[in-house]
Amino acid sequence: MTDQYAVIGNPIAHSKSPMIHEAFARQTGQDMRYERILASLDGFEATIRELIKQGYKGVNVTVPFKFEAFVLADARTARAMDAGAANTLIFNEQGIVADNTDGAGIVRDIEKNLQLPLAGKRVLLLGAGGAAEGVLHPILACKPSLLTIVNRSMDKALAMVKKAEATKALSVTTLSGCEFNDLPGQEFDVVINATSAGLTDTALPIPNTIFAKGCLAYDMMYGRETPFMQQARTNGAIVADGLGMLIEQAAEAFYVWRGVRPETKPVIEMVSAL
Ligand code: ATR
Repeated sequence: MTDQYAVIGNPIAHSKSPMIHEAFARQTGQDMRYERILASLDGFEATIRELIKQGYKGVNVTVPFKFEAFVLADARTARAMDAGAANTLIFNEQGIVADNTDGAGIVRDIEKNLQLPLAGKRVLLLGAGGAAEGVLHPILACKPSLLTIVNRSMDKALAMVKKAEATKALSVTTLSGCEFNDLPGQEFDVVINATSAGLTDTALPIPNTIFAKGCLAYDMMYGRETPFMQQARTNGAIVADGLGMLIEQAAEAFYVWRGVRPETKPVIEMVSAL
């Protein structure tokens, strides 16, 4: 019998995940189906229980259900615990297992696809919401020399720092939180935009001087040129959007479910060409 998977969110109509997982399944010869499911805002748990009843093997979870998925689970992987959210659920003999492949996805995209090892680099993380939380620990695990979290409401950046300090030994990384006003005079090798400001085409209050020579400016958003990307490009940075991350987090989820790691390069090329 064909194994069934899905991505659940609200909204969900524009999700590229079915196309990505179908490409992985074709490439690796896996017998599986993957569809989009729209859950009502108060209907996430009921949807999950129904899918389990129908024999689904797992789901990806997207906005706004990543935290609810984490709470609902019977067991959680270490990386889901670090993120405090789940983007991947596995339905097995343990019940609902929550995992999070977002951080692995961005790290693979930066280090493997964009060929920029994060070790020893000065990294600036813009934003302290769910997207930033999801990638903090995997980035720290790459041992940057410096990781600064900047957020409009600085208390959230400081809370993220405090939580990370309590759960991880930061032997090699200087981790700190600040507000946008503190950025003038500072320079970074990698700047990651994890804010949602791009959704409304809003520019961030960042000085042009934060982009060091050869800096990678990475926007976790995909499918649009954000003001952040434009500013970084104008100031000589190498610019990437979040499409590579999207495909790498999907590949990691595929690996978790199927035990086979798909090749992402042809799928990144296919989706980029659309
Ligand atoms: P997500 O799940 O996408 O991370 P979120 O948890 O609501 O969404 O977080 C959104 C992030 O974008 C926050 O860090 C938010 O800053 P605040 O915590 O100060 O609200 C940030 N953000 C959104 N719009 C912004 C803007 N116009 N300028 C600066 N930061 C912005």
